[in-house]
Amino acid sequence: MSAEFSMTVNGRTVTVDVAADETLLHVLRDELLLTGAKEGCDEGECGACTVLVDGKPVDSCIYPAPAAAGRTVSTIEGLVGSDGSLTPIQRAFVDGFAVQCGFCTPGFVMTLTALIEENSKPTERDIREALSGNLCRCTGYSTIIDAVLTATEERS
Ligand code: FES
Ligand code: FES
Repeated sequence: MSAEFSMTVNGRTVTVDVAADETLLHVLRDELLLTGAKEGCDEGECGACTVLVDGKPVDSCIYPAPAAAGRTVSTIEGLVGSDGSLTPIQRAFVDGFAVQCGFCTPGFVMTLTALIEENSKPTERDIREALSGNLCRCTGYSTIIDAVLTATEERS
């Protein structure tokens, strides 16, 4: 059985016709060729596939694609400005050397983007709680947390 539906992805309305049990991650990567969201565990455990649906982080590998019908989806590709400018969280990762292999980075950036939309001055605890569903094998997390704290303190 297939499902045809429309959603807004990074500001653009798209209509897709996919298998009814398809996940949002595979629609983004395979149909829309937006490969920034990564396929890690494919079981909702690692957060590498995190995108925002109506501003909230979701594990797109377990998010049924038809559930995005009529919703607004944001991926890492949609964050950078038309002039190439980075968002504060993206800039924090660059300036804070918070990336090693980079596989987890899009998921972390999306989760943290949602966090600072709701809370522009998160504490370390807020950041750690927000990131509880995002796993990183490389950084040990401290460079990521320090980068976000530095960036959000500088914004005040
Ligand atoms: S790939 Fe989705 S949570 Fe791991
Ligand atoms: S930077 Fe390699 S998994 Fe996070």
